Amino acid sequence: MDDLRELYQEVILDHGKHPRNFRTPDDATAEAHGNNPLCGDQLTVYIKTGADGLVEDVAFIGRGCAISVASASMMTELVKGKTEAEARAIFETFHGMCTGEGDEGDVGEDLDKLKVLSGVRDFPTRVKCATLPWHTLVAALAGDSEVTTE
Ligand code: FES
Repeated sequence: MDDLRELYQEVILDHGKHPRNFRTPDDATAEAHGNNPLCGDQLTVYIKTGADGLVEDVAFIGRGCAISVASASMMTELVKGKTEAEARAIFETFHGMCTGEGDEGDVGEDLDKLKVLSGVRDFPTRVKCATLPWHTLVAALAGDSEVTTE
């Protein structure tokens, strides 16, 4: 278990230090601004949805802890190429994993990658760190421009 923890730690640190898709795209079709009032961290998520309903691009900018930045980074990689409904479904399952309310069993390959973040379930305030980017993504998909983790 210690090896696994170490691996999880490494993945989070890597995404936290070298976030993927950390940029402001100039062709986004929607964006939302997310705020965690507990710590003041904030980020903006940009999405570009194609005519076929697929999420063609996801990017983000902002300031956050290693967990929130790693979660945002992994989110952008996972959601690209999915339908909006699939993106929402991933969020729902991931949220369950983080709060301990979901089933962590066979969650599929995509969600498997997010398991590294599910350790936050033991630290309630960290759940908001891991889910901040996802709440922001879902807000952007819904056409809302602002969201908080409260
Ligand atoms: Fe602010 Fe994690 S401490 S989002």
